[in-house]
Amino acid sequence: MQIHETAFIVSTYRSYHEDVSKDAYAKLWNNPATDALIPDIIKSVSEHEAILHSLRNRFFYERMNSFFKENGGGTLINFGSGFSMYQFSFDNNVSTIEIDKKDIIDYKKEKIDHWTQEGKLPYRDIQYAAIDFNKNSVEEMVNSLRPIIKKEPTFILIEGVVFFLDRTTTNKLFNVFKELQKPNDLVGLVTYLPEVENTAVYKRLLHYFDSNNDTNDSFSHQTIPDSYFHKIDGYEVQERTDEFQLSKIYARQHIIKDKTEILNETSYMLRRT
Ligand SMILES: C[S@@+](CC[C@H](N)C(=O)[O-])C[C@H]1O[C@@H](n2cnc3c(N)ncnc32)[C@H](O)[C@@H]1O
Repeated sequence: MQIHETAFIVSTYRSYHEDVSKDAYAKLWNNPATDALIPDIIKSVSEHEAILHSLRNRFFYERMNSFFKENGGGTLINFGSGFSMYQFSFDNNVSTIEIDKKDIIDYKKEKIDHWTQEGKLPYRDIQYAAIDFNKNSVEEMVNSLRPIIKKEPTFILIEGVVFFLDRTTTNKLFNVFKELQKPNDLVGLVTYLPEVENTAVYKRLLHYFDSNNDTNDSFSHQTIPDSYFHKIDGYEVQERTDEFQLSKIYARQHIIKDKTEILNETSYMLRRT
């Protein structure tokens, strides 16, 4: 499993449940190589993965849409943006900065430009930044991102990414966020809490990654305790939810008996103080 494959997989999941994810554009990224990977993940890890990823997308879609509507636009800064497509569902007073590893950024820019020319996507103001969060320093990241923030306020999203980072890099990113944001700007983040490590389904996920790690594209498997988010300098927790709770709001027809039977990720909304 390579890191870019994880971005294709979550995008494909969103395309399976457009009514839940509210991502009508995810299907543009669908491709046979990713389609071939999914049945094995569903079988060996969990049948609920597609709906859960659609639910977390829906949560951030709702929070970002309200934030940008209340503020008459702004900038979405998407850290580890993969193939997420939020900006095309927002009004065009929202600018976006897509940040990811170089291969993803180059591929995404080429495809987005092409689909926009073809009329498959509405025009949006999008900047692209190729950054490796493990390798680049706080100063390098701030210096490359600050000049391309055209509109305030900012909403920083880091969705489906911190699991693949270690704590040092996560701390570094919060220093970047603090430098870039002003009071009342928001960060949306998804993580696994350490409690999830005790579940059979999480053990199956790690086993899946271990047995499919056929490349040198190694990555961490981080969980973060709730207490971490209450101690971040410059931020306060505004909201916390998880996919089990979100399923009761946005996917009531999808029955999940207990939250321990799913890979239950927790989402945070953090406000810059
Ligand atoms: C599972 S995908 C999630 C993509 C997107 N946020 C979403 O939810 O659809 C993880 C993304 O994090 C990016 N990523 C992981 N480690 C990274 C790093 N060290 N530097 C930059 N991007 C990284 C990957 O390239 C990938 O696009």
